[in-house]
Amino acid sequence: MAALLSSSILSACVKNAPGKNPAAATPSAFTFPEIAKTASEHHTIAAGYRADVLIGWGDALDGKTRYQQGKISPGQQAERFGYNNDYTAFLPIPAGSDNSERGILFVNHEYTNIILMFPNISPGEEKTSVTKKQMRVEQEALGCSILELYRYEKQWALVKSSLYARRITGTTPMRIGGPAAGHARMRTSEDPLGVRILGTFGNCAGGVTPWGTVLTCEENFDTFFAPLPGEEGPETANHKRYGVGEQGYYAWHRMDPRFDPAKEPNEPNRFGWVVEIDPYHPERSPVKRTALGRFKHESATCALTPGGKAVVYSGDDEEFEYLYRFISRYPVRTDVRELNDGLLDEGTLSVARFFEDGSMEWLDLVWGQGKLAEENGFFSQADVVIETRRAADLAGATPMDRPEDVEVHPESGHVFIAMTKNPLRKKRDPANPRAANPYGHIVELIPPDKDGQPDHGARLFRWEMFLMGGDPSDEKSGAYYPTPPSKDGWLTNPDNLAFDPKGRLWITTDGQGSAVGKDNGLYAAEVDGPRRGAPRLFFSGPRGAEVTGPSFTPDGKTLFLSVQHPAEWPDDSTYDAPSTRWPYFKDDEPPRPCVLAITREDGGEI
Ligand code: FEO
Ligand code: CA
Ligand code: CA
Repeated sequence: MAALLSSSILSACVKNAPGKNPAAATPSAFTFPEIAKTASEHHTIAAGYRADVLIGWGDALDGKTRYQQGKISPGQQAERFGYNNDYTAFLPIPAGSDNSERGILFVNHEYTNIILMFPNISPGEEKTSVTKKQMRVEQEALGCSILELYRYEKQWALVKSSLYARRITGTTPMRIGGPAAGHARMRTSEDPLGVRILGTFGNCAGGVTPWGTVLTCEENFDTFFAPLPGEEGPETANHKRYGVGEQGYYAWHRMDPRFDPAKEPNEPNRFGWVVEIDPYHPERSPVKRTALGRFKHESATCALTPGGKAVVYSGDDEEFEYLYRFISRYPVRTDVRELNDGLLDEGTLSVARFFEDGSMEWLDLVWGQGKLAEENGFFSQADVVIETRRAADLAGATPMDRPEDVEVHPESGHVFIAMTKNPLRKKRDPANPRAANPYGHIVELIPPDKDGQPDHGARLFRWEMFLMGGDPSDEKSGAYYPTPPSKDGWLTNPDNLAFDPKGRLWITTDGQGSAVGKDNGLYAAEVDGPRRGAPRLFFSGPRGAEVTGPSFTPDGKTLFLSVQHPAEWPDDSTYDAPSTRWPYFKDDEPPRPCVLAITREDGGEI
C-alpha cells in the first residue's frame, strides 16, 4: 500500500493513527445498526428507520395519482414527476427559515431509459424503435420537479394545489446569463439572438445558493446529440472535446433537428451549464449561468469568502477532467434575496492544480491572461467559458479521476470531493494515486484560515487524501481508510456527498454492482476524531439502481434520498421483464425511480 501513497496521504495516515485502535474505545457518532452489503431486488435500511416513497416517476406533483403504465403522453409527463430523479434539496418555507416541517423539495432528473419506460423495446433497439411521441415523453421527463411538502406526525405529504409546485423540462424556455449570453456561438435558427434556450437535461447533482436559489447541473449533455457530420465544421473540435457525437445514446436527432449538429452546430454549446432556478418564485425563468463555465458539471456547491462573495465549487465528471471554482465579483446581498439575481454572471472562474507537497493552487481562467488569448482561438471570455475544458488544459490543471460531488463541511469549511473512478488512468499523480483506479477516492481540500474563517477565496489551499475505495482485506485493491471500516463499511465508487447538520459525511455510491457485485448504497462517515474515515453502511438500493441526492432537513430528522434507475442492470432487463419491479413489486407495474423520505421510527435525528 505504501507504494501507492503519496507523501501527503502518508502524513494523513500518521495524523490519524495515534494509537493502536483508538476507535474501539470511543463511541461512534452514529447510533444506527449497520446493515450488511446486499445484492437484492429490494432496498434495505438500518433497523429503527423507515423509508417512505415520497414520489416516483409519473406521479402527479401532489402525489395523488399515478400514470397508466406504458401509456403516458407527452402532455401528462410535462406535468408529472420526471424520470431518473437525482439531486434533492430541501428548502424551508418561509425562505431563509430553518422550518423542518414544511418546505419545497427541489429534485432534478438526469436521463431517460426507454427500454424501462415503454413496453416492447428490446435492448439494442433504443435508437431504432423510439417513436416521435415517445421522444416527446422523454424530453418532458427530464429537467427538474419542484414539490411542496409538509410533515404530519411521522410521514411527509405533498401539498395539493401548491403555489410552488412546477415542472421544468427538456423543453422549458430559459434565459442565458453571463459572458456567453448573446454570443454568436450561442445562436441558432430558433434563437437568432442567442438568449433563449429550450430546456435543460443531463441534470445530475446541484447546490443551494446562500440566497436560497438552486443550481442544477447539466452533466452528460453530449449523449442527446447525433453523431457529428463527416466533414469538419467550425465547432467540430470543440464538440469532440465534450464527446458530442461519440456516445450518441438517443435518437432525438432523427425527429428533432436541433439535436443534429450538422443542422444546428451551435445547439450543443447551449448545454453543459449550471442553471439557476428560484424555487420560491414560480414565475421566474431558469437562467443558464455561463460565467461558471461549460463542462459536464456534476455539482455546484456554494460557500462564502470571508468578505461575503459567493463561491461555487464544481467537478467535471469525466476521466481526466478537472475541478473548478468560481468566485462572484460582488458580495452576496443579505438584505433582499432577489437582488442576487445576476450575481453569478460576473466573477472569476479557476481550475485546480494539485502538488505532491500537499498544496494546491487555483489557476484563473480569464481571457487575455496567460495562454487564453487570440493566438489560441480565445477572442473573449465567452470563448473561455464555451471551451472551458480547453482553457483549463492550457492553464495546466490536474486531470482527475472523474470528479463527482463536492461538499463543504459546515464548520471547518474543508471541501470534500468524490472521484468516482478512472479505469483509464495509466500515470499516477499525487491526488489520483492509483493506476488504474477502479474504486474511486475522496480528497479533502483545506482552505487557509483568515481571521478565524476558512478563506474559500485564497489562491493556495492544502489537500489530503480522505479515503480510497475498495475492500481493505484485499491487498491488491489499494484501498485506504484512515480508520479501519467494518466488513460492510468499505465502499467503492463514491458519487454524491452530503453533510448532516452535525458535520457527518454521507456518501452514496455508483458502480458497486460492476466493481464488486454489490448493490449501491448510502454510507456515513465521521470526518474528525478517532473514527475519521471509517464508513458505515446505512442504506442499500435495489438491483441496478444508483443511490443519489441525499439531503437533510435543517433539524437533521429527515433524509431525502433518490433511487435512480432501478432495474437498469443487467443489460437484458426491460420494461416487460425487469430485474426488479421496485418499489411496488406489482406484476403489471414497471420499476420506478423514486425519492424516499427517510426518518427514524422514534422521531429522532438521523
Ligand atoms: Fe451523473 Fe456524475 O453522475
Ligand atoms: Ca452523480
Ligand atoms: Ca455517477
